[in-house]
Amino acid sequence: MNPQLSRDIDKRRTFAIISHPDAGKTTVTEKLLLYSGAIQLAGTVKAKRGRQFATSDWMEIERQRGISVTSSVLNFSYKEHELNLIDTPGHKDFSEDTYRTLTAVDCALMVVDAAKGIESQTKKLFEICRMRQIPIIAFINKLDRPCKEPIELIDEIESVLGISCYPITWPLGQGPDFRGVYNRLEKNLSAFTPGSDQSRQVPVAKLDLGDPNLNEFCPPELISALVDEIAMLDGAGADFSRESFLKGNLAPVFFGSALNNFGIETLLNTLISLAPSPGSRPTKTRVVDPHEEKFSGFIFKIQANMDPNHRDRVAFLRICSGKFERGMKVFHSRLEREFRLGRPTQFLAQDRSLVDTAVAGDIVGVHDPGKFLIGDSFTEGEKLHFTGIPVFAPENFARVILRDPLKSKQLNKALTELSEEGVLQLLFPFHSSDKFLGAVGILQFDVVKFRIEKEYNLAMDFVILPYTLSRWVSFEDKNLLESFEDNCREQLCKDKDGHTVVLVDEAWRLKYVQEKFPKIALSPTAPI
Ligand code: G4P
Repeated sequence: MNPQLSRDIDKRRTFAIISHPDAGKTTVTEKLLLYSGAIQLAGTVKAKRGRQFATSDWMEIERQRGISVTSSVLNFSYKEHELNLIDTPGHKDFSEDTYRTLTAVDCALMVVDAAKGIESQTKKLFEICRMRQIPIIAFINKLDRPCKEPIELIDEIESVLGISCYPITWPLGQGPDFRGVYNRLEKNLSAFTPGSDQSRQVPVAKLDLGDPNLNEFCPPELISALVDEIAMLDGAGADFSRESFLKGNLAPVFFGSALNNFGIETLLNTLISLAPSPGSRPTKTRVVDPHEEKFSGFIFKIQANMDPNHRDRVAFLRICSGKFERGMKVFHSRLEREFRLGRPTQFLAQDRSLVDTAVAGDIVGVHDPGKFLIGDSFTEGEKLHFTGIPVFAPENFARVILRDPLKSKQLNKALTELSEEGVLQLLFPFHSSDKFLGAVGILQFDVVKFRIEKEYNLAMDFVILPYTLSRWVSFEDKNLLESFEDNCREQLCKDKDGHTVVLVDEAWRLKYVQEKFPKIALSPTAPI
């Protein structure tokens, strides 16, 4: 083991930001960049709807709508640590891309709007984190506005998401009375000054709860309420356990206001002190330790046409072990051949820069010669296949109507390529020679239409199908599968790998199928 390489790897923090739209994810992202020194002035990244566009708005459709449909990756340094942040789409609709992002990270930062609490999209994303046992840090945002009671928010996270919480900071007042947060581990109070310049770093005064000047800064009744609440929190639960956090069983919670830059520095410090460094990753044959000297990694996302001047495809690679060097030849385990990974790129704000080296934990974009698929593994020669990049069951379905039926061959090519990129799932119904498109989010169909028209020059329309859920079907006994297939042909499709998928229009029908065929296994993710 190379000690320098090990030290470099341990300084990586690779995390995703998850939230419901409008909770403040973009603002948090931007302020993390501001406080890390990656940008000097906030206001350069944030998309102002219809005016300026976010870093992740690579695709034209995003520009047209002022939304973000693909997740973007940002790399920045903070206190000698290298942080890889993966943003997830901010639109109410989201795609498989959002889910898959979570396979490439070691931790997730969950942003919650203090007035709204846990909203639907946060819940969905959280469930994926849970499934993958990803540690979660919660940031309750917008304390400068009237909001729910902090204790109510904690109860909500615990009951709706089913995870225990440990509030590390606790607010002193809220809305117009918001005066700061008390840090239960550091045992001091960070004072909030409303009305500061939001585009630059704001110095924060740290006070002791026993400080005689405290009353000048805040009404005594707020302080006594805080003292009571802290006593209640301390009395109610055990000490903070990093071990429970790392297992995904306990979420440290922070309160703040991203717009006012308040609480951001604490988050950054938490990311480097509490969040995990790159961990081991399972493959079909063995577990890969990040400190192994030999390079390995997998593709979790493929993005076409990021640069409108070049028709390029960029594959996003999560490095799982060792060190990646520019120009390096690597072994592609599925195709069993070597590739030289060209133009390794990292991303910050609107800029891309070529990287010379990257180590386990890092995310780099590499040129995809059109041969790579999501989930592909690369090594220095060993035949490894990283597991755990699930394909998630679509919840939206459509058929394509081609305006010029003579172009069906081109359409097939377009659909196959887009499905390889993970933009859609292709399903082949049992009862017809049609092709169904499946997507986790309905907006994905707009993306598909836009890209087919623009990139493949094919005019087409969609007919939305009435199904709302799907599950992969398996039986231990192959004969049972056959009789099931005979019984339910109308509702069945094959996916591109030949696995059987059942489509239903309402959730109760799945229950019905399960009751009728008790030996059936219905899975929300595709078999690996
Ligand atoms: P998102 O990426 O999760 O969708 O949220 P985003 O950061 O875009 O924030 C949504 C809105 O909430 C924005 O206002 C943003 O300025 C505001 N916001 C974020 N953090 C805070 C906070 O701590 N306090 C308050 N009061 N507001 C906050 P907007 O008016 O929708 O957009 P904009 O015109 O300000 O960009």
